[in-house]
Amino acid sequence: MTTANKVALDPLYQLTDAELDARIVAAKAALGNRCVILGHHYQREEVYRYADLTGDSLKLARLASQRPEADYILFCGVHFMAEVADILSAPHQTAILPDMAAGCSMADMADLPAVEDCWRQLNTLLDAEATLTPITYVNSAADLKGFCGEHGGTVCTSSNAAHVLKWAFGEREKVLFFPDQHLGRNTGAAMGIGLEEMVLWRPTEPMGGLTPAQIKAAKIILWDGFCSVHQLFQPAHIEQWRQRLPGVQVICHPECSFEVCQKADALGSTELIQSRVREAPAGSQFVIGTELNLVNRLKHEMPEKEIHFLSPTLCMCSTMFRIDPQHLLWSLENLIAGEVVNPIVVPAQQAAMAKVALERMLAIV
Ligand code: 13P
Ligand code: SF4
Repeated sequence: MTTANKVALDPLYQLTDAELDARIVAAKAALGNRCVILGHHYQREEVYRYADLTGDSLKLARLASQRPEADYILFCGVHFMAEVADILSAPHQTAILPDMAAGCSMADMADLPAVEDCWRQLNTLLDAEATLTPITYVNSAADLKGFCGEHGGTVCTSSNAAHVLKWAFGEREKVLFFPDQHLGRNTGAAMGIGLEEMVLWRPTEPMGGLTPAQIKAAKIILWDGFCSVHQLFQPAHIEQWRQRLPGVQVICHPECSFEVCQKADALGSTELIQSRVREAPAGSQFVIGTELNLVNRLKHEMPEKEIHFLSPTLCMCSTMFRIDPQHLLWSLENLIAGEVVNPIVVPAQQAAMAKVALERMLAIV
């Protein structure tokens, strides 16, 4: 953050909630259509309420490319989401992340040098270009999406992973899936791929810690990455809820472990979780295994349904939480002052290849 910014952040922490609200509403009105605020479902309520458009990663990626009238796409989410908005939006548009510290710890578990090294090592055993399709979960840096674009692969989200894997197996015999092992394993298992055909690549070990026989027999090579929030949910939590509320519907996000997902009634993206609960009749009982802010919002929105959070401890995405009303106001008022703070600009060459991978995904589903 530079000291030259026309509107400073620190004093905004002295404002009352009512003052913050009045200034955010006024700033949004002053900017009008020039600025669209996108909000991920994990955003805290004090920020989410100002989003013009909300959704899961796939929906937000599509929306980012469908608002050409907005010069600014202000992303209340995490860094990789704002990168996707930058890549898919028009050249005259600028994506903004109100707090640069809003990253994703899972996305940080795979980086380009490590994935390139993995590809090189696999190539000593297989003809990587001919046999492997690289698929990156959208929760990844733009250069990894670029890697997939360059090597005939694509991107997936939690809502289209099955379609994307199906497409990949129509292209080549194996998939290298990063960074989330759980999404890859849960999706593969739902497609009938055996656990023994999905092996775990540990990037710090030679050959990922795998034998040549394991690699040759594998259909999916899973990167050893995970979400630190979703890994907190345990199969025992589901068992406890089922004892307490027989007949309850358990819905989990596919970033939860295989053991948790096997015990759930349904798996889905944040958007799917929201629609399943909204569509259910009054009196329905749900236990939900995903980030706390979304579950609490659904609870408040639908008091006529019984909605519980799966874990007895808090599972919150601390990086999503970085975006607070103060940062939102700071970004908006600086735009009014002609100052763009925290623009997300993916370097042109990286963006071009990442766009290839993202457009491939959008063409699949
Ligand atoms: P969704 O695409 O389901 O919104 O998930 C994004 C995410 O980061 C979940 O942890
Ligand atoms: Fe990343 Fe997990 Fe947060 Fe989603 S919940 S943004 S995967 S750290």
